[in-house]
Amino acid sequence: MSEAYTIAVVPGDGIGPEVVREGLRVLERVASIEGFRVATTTYPFGAEHYLKTKEIFPESAFSEVRQQRAILLGAIGDPRIEVGLLEFGIIAKMRFELDLFVNLRPVKLYAEHLCPLKDKKPEDVDFIVVRENTEDAYAGMRGFFKKGTPDEVATQEIIFTRKGTERVIRYAFELARRRGRGKKLTLVDKANAVRAMDLWARVFEEVGREYPDIARDHAYIDAACMWCVKNPEWFDTVVTSNMFGDILTDLAAMIQGGLGIAASGNIHPGQVSLFEPIHGSAPKYAGKNVANPLATIMAVSMMLDYLGETRGAARIEETVAALLRSKRIPSLGSDSGLSTAEIGNLVIESLEQAKVPA
Ligand code: IPM
Ligand code: MN
Repeated sequence: MSEAYTIAVVPGDGIGPEVVREGLRVLERVASIEGFRVATTTYPFGAEHYLKTKEIFPESAFSEVRQQRAILLGAIGDPRIEVGLLEFGIIAKMRFELDLFVNLRPVKLYAEHLCPLKDKKPEDVDFIVVRENTEDAYAGMRGFFKKGTPDEVATQEIIFTRKGTERVIRYAFELARRRGRGKKLTLVDKANAVRAMDLWARVFEEVGREYPDIARDHAYIDAACMWCVKNPEWFDTVVTSNMFGDILTDLAAMIQGGLGIAASGNIHPGQVSLFEPIHGSAPKYAGKNVANPLATIMAVSMMLDYLGETRGAARIEETVAALLRSKRIPSLGSDSGLSTAEIGNLVIESLEQAKVPA
């Protein structure tokens, strides 16, 4: 039998542990159907652990995580703790220190009734956002001067490097080619106001010349938000900066049915990469067994795709799509009438029947 895939699991805060539990059950079932093995190691980091030990993400654990093939994360964030402390100490730490420069966010509508837009069908909402994941205002170059006084000055630098911009744009061109759907890549920026983004425009043109089969398109971020609602069918592959990607993908998640299904991969090709639902820790639903685990289950699918287990990945995606189309899972919110575990069970029971390419 082949070697097991080593997976670090960080369930985190709020609803994180509940949705991750279902994600792992689905992972085990798919592994047994497809005949591969996984070896998971769970880490306790998050709010509870921090309150008990004052530890956020110790280096000893971090160096273990670095050795794994992939990481599955639930959610981080807790109202008892200073805003940003754990988000930066756990999620951003992994994104930066593991150099996960691609944040991949598919936007796919699986069933028409889940879309809040009038007359939009699954074929109209099927694009993918490649969000740069290591630069921009997230780099943390910030400061306060005369803090707490009427003369306070607060700064946070938006930084883009030539290397960082080029590698993510190149990844997006390659992805547009692999997807083979519209063979179109849209650059989303704000170069008309944030003039530093002229770097993005120049790199996009330059790298784009190496991909004559991919049509190049452009939209400013404000207009891209508008098109996302008005004509989502115009997007195929989208590449954008860290903060614009953050905002655009919450909006985009809504047109695919909501944060209940939106998943993402934080990727450095060929290295340990991190997969997570886009939603947060939703503290008010924590421990109630009502959170929808589908976004985490889809994150597991993305993780398998990344690991090269494409049949397993497709099996999960097809199962979820079929359960949504048939309305056996009637909605994507916490109001579906199904518990977290019941949704997990439905997916697990249906995996075997999924139609996947041989
Ligand atoms: C996301 C989240 C994070 C981000 C937060 C928790 C720092 O919103 O993954 O989209 O802004 O990147
Ligand atoms: Mn976000």
